[in-house]
Amino acid sequence: MSAGSVRIEVAPSILAADFACLERQIRAVESGGASRLHVDVMDGHFVPNLTMGVPVVASLRPVTRLPLEVHLMIERPDQFIEPFAAAGADCIYVHQEATPHLDRVLHQIRERGLEAGVAINPATPVMVLSEVLELVAVVLVMSVNPGFGGQQFIPRAIEKVRQLRQMRARYNGSYRIAVDGGVGPDNTGDLVRAGANVLIAGSSIFHRPDPAAAVQQMLDRAREALAVQV
Ligand code: DX5
Ligand code: ZN
Repeated sequence: MSAGSVRIEVAPSILAADFACLERQIRAVESGGASRLHVDVMDGHFVPNLTMGVPVVASLRPVTRLPLEVHLMIERPDQFIEPFAAAGADCIYVHQEATPHLDRVLHQIRERGLEAGVAINPATPVMVLSEVLELVAVVLVMSVNPGFGGQQFIPRAIEKVRQLRQMRARYNGSYRIAVDGGVGPDNTGDLVRAGANVLIAGSSIFHRPDPAAAVQQMLDRAREALAVQV
């Protein structure tokens, strides 16, 4: 949805979906107005959990037109940019904490023609990103410690979103701001008022009986919050 010049997108995280009927679940969130799909990739090293990899992105690519955003929660992300790009990813997020060569990996993603995203953990201040903000299309603020769905939202993330919006204004930046972890209808208003553009949500969408309605509800809450703000 757009309100004035602000575009808000909901990106359902398929980690919380029923993998036995993934295509049907994707159709549901598409019909609710989702405009991106979020794919969480975990390696059991950078985070204490294992999830999915390249074959899942390759299988999803032909069944949806939505942009696929791949959230890499892995060590050595440089080794996986090419395989995920070839599988059909549109956007790849790399964690600032996962590589000493963040600049190089972000260039790798851009050179492949994809949107480059950078993610930061709750304990990482936004200032560490100052040298890469010009390279990224999206900055992802983790509002839980990465590794698992269904965790409680850490409210401090709202302040980080605000800081990123101020930095963007100060330096004439163009990146969008995404939030991931414990996001749902209850905190959508606060997040979009603070400046969030991409709301990534797993359990608050797929663990509801009607995922389409859950997406719609988040978009409605975002619209209401921005309407009040104007
Ligand atoms: C957590 C993942 C999230 C997760 C969000 O490490 O990055 O994308 O799927 O799930 P919820 O919305 O349930 O917190
Ligand atoms: Zn994620």
